[in-house]
Amino acid sequence: MPENRVLVTGVAGFIGAALAGRLLADGHAVTGVDNLSPYYGVALKRARLAALERHPAFSFLPLDLADRAAVARLFDTRCFDAIVHLAAQPGVRYSMENPAAYIDANLAGFGNVLEGARRCRPAHLMFASSSSVYGEATAPFSENQCADRPLSLYAATKRANELMAYSYAHLHRLPCTGLRFFTVYGPWMRPDMAIYRFAEGIVAGHPIPVFNRGQMRRDYTYIDDAVEAVVRLLRRPPQASGTAPPYRVLNIGNHQPVELTHVIALLERHLGRRATLELLPMQPGDVHATCADVTALREVTGFVPSTPIDQGIARFAEWFLARRAGRGPAVDEAATSQEGNPCA
Ligand SMILES: NC(=O)c1ccc[n+]([C@@H]2O[C@H](COP(=O)([O-])OP(=O)(O)OC[C@H]3O[C@@H](n4cnc5c(N)ncnc54)[C@H](O)[C@@H]3O)[C@@H](O)[C@H]2O)c1
Repeated sequence: MPENRVLVTGVAGFIGAALAGRLLADGHAVTGVDNLSPYYGVALKRARLAALERHPAFSFLPLDLADRAAVARLFDTRCFDAIVHLAAQPGVRYSMENPAAYIDANLAGFGNVLEGARRCRPAHLMFASSSSVYGEATAPFSENQCADRPLSLYAATKRANELMAYSYAHLHRLPCTGLRFFTVYGPWMRPDMAIYRFAEGIVAGHPIPVFNRGQMRRDYTYIDDAVEAVVRLLRRPPQASGTAPPYRVLNIGNHQPVELTHVIALLERHLGRRATLELLPMQPGDVHATCADVTALREVTGFVPSTPIDQGIARFAEWFLARRAGRGPAVDEAATSQEGNPCA
């Protein structure tokens, strides 16, 4: 499927920038939109964009997807073969501090993208959901399990996105795939996420807050694996079958959950410093364990994420140290108050 025109929303974000880079390398033309939300360091977002903007087949439009008229203008003037909607207000804990940000970006923003897609009729609309839709379901999480007990507003907006997309797939035969990402990490990752914040604390010699005393297991997915899964899915839109609309949700996870304390030990090893832990109770909205059943992803794509956590953390640590040493783009401004929340 060479030289497709792909719209990537949230292109200045962690997953969006990595995906756009890969799509450009594969020969696609990428239009990226992002409102450069100040939720975390805008310098990091600009640095991700700067790398993409060197590519002639990339164009960037600053755009707030919650602005209905502006999104309508985008789809009036451009058409896309595929859309990958990654823009969102992420973070579990922050959804208690600033619920409006989630309503605007995740609900209104996605509604506007769906309307644009209805008119522009891409061959495939993919959108980011999250492992958090499973709440405290029994792991491993399979797409057939109930996901209607969200423990945070963030999770509720992601589940709502899935239902909104289903209705468009049903009513308008718009092929839609919901991507249930499981804690994606690696170089260029979000500074509000636990691995990044732990690294900052370890290197600075500050105590790092560890919730539920580290007794949490997460299915950590390396960024290149997440991108590989999305790229393979892009060219495999779901088909309508009888009365079933062209719609599916898929887990994108590593299916090998790891204890938080093990991740901290790996960070210590690869950063070359000992951590001081501040052991704290469980925080509201968080879940004890995540683990993806990736049977469906394997069936559709022939691929499942499998980068070992040791390798992934080593690559992250190398990038993190280079960045701090000034060999990468400018060190971020402070992230928001997402203290060590491992659940994205
Ligand atoms: N990183 C993970 O572990 C993870 C896990 C599960 C789900 N997700 C989902 O995957 C997607 C990408 O996550 P990420 O980690 O790259 O997050 P990110 O915050 O780095 O990227 C999201 C981007 O969307 C932009 N954005 C926010 N609101 C916008 C709006 N109204 N209009 C336009 N742009 C807007 C932000 O500026 C940001 O650059 C998100 O939908 C997130 O909820 C991520």
